[in-house]
Amino acid sequence: MHVIETADALRKQVGEWRRAGGRIGFVPTMGNLHAGHLALVDRARELAGRVVVSIFVNPMQFGPGEDIDRYPRTLDRDCEALRRKDVDLLFAPPVEVIYPHGDRATTRVEVPGLSDILEGEHRPGHFTGVATVVAKLFNLVQPDVAVFGEKDFQQLAVIRRMVADLDMPVRIVGHPTVREDDGLAMSSRNGYLDDAERRIAPQLYRCLQEVADGLHAGQPIGKLEAMAMKSLERTGFRPEYVSIRRRTDLLPPEPADHELIILAAAWLGSARLIDNLPVDV
Ligand code: PAJ
Repeated sequence: MHVIETADALRKQVGEWRRAGGRIGFVPTMGNLHAGHLALVDRARELAGRVVVSIFVNPMQFGPGEDIDRYPRTLDRDCEALRRKDVDLLFAPPVEVIYPHGDRATTRVEVPGLSDILEGEHRPGHFTGVATVVAKLFNLVQPDVAVFGEKDFQQLAVIRRMVADLDMPVRIVGHPTVREDDGLAMSSRNGYLDDAERRIAPQLYRCLQEVADGLHAGQPIGKLEAMAMKSLERTGFRPEYVSIRRRTDLLPPEPADHELIILAAAWLGSARLIDNLPVDV
């Protein structure tokens, strides 16, 4: 596996593969890799002859007071996991390579509307940071296909919209959420949970499943959302939102919409957890 830190070295290696006719598959990450990330790598491998992974903890997508300083950095362990997966290239640039003028002064990519609701309402500027870094990474790697997790469903929607709006020549593939045996969605932030919180954490997914049951039973959306917020509070969470939306554009569903998604964000101790569950009614 090539481990590369600079834009020039990355372009040179990927350019060689491209001239030889290979398809490039790409999985952007912030590292601290778990089985969810590695499932995306496997998917990229099915879709392309060469697989590139990036590890970059992107300062632009963290708000003031968020967890960038304590975000787990485990590069040696991540490298080993990627080698075992036969990844061809790991791009792990320092911040100066991505933001030579600093992340506040750089040209940015805004995806209006989709970036302002749900996660965007609670984390202003977050999706501009995500869209900007992913656009930059796409320009550096020039992948044919890039794989993203449905765990971050709104992020996937923002990326799809950016790629469509800016006519970027890359196919975006979504991959279902990988979960622990007890249902908790895998996440680097699960490491912030202590033992007692870790035992409570799977209730977030269970709560989404109960909302799904309610939807199938025809219960009204507003009531289901309010009940879910209360139930999370009772379990020990500090929920930010539980919201039932339509899958296509994450807007509130009309009566004719059948492809829905339940999205939630909740604090448990010092960890902010998000999860979602697609539902067909
Ligand atoms: P990160 O949180 O490291 O996630 C990298 C990719 O892994 C994302 O596409 C995310 O949706 C996916 N992923 C995380 N947990 C998953 C799980 N349990 N099952 C399936 N996929 C999962 O998301 C980011 O980094 C950043 O915002 C990034 C896109 C790299 C831009 O900085």
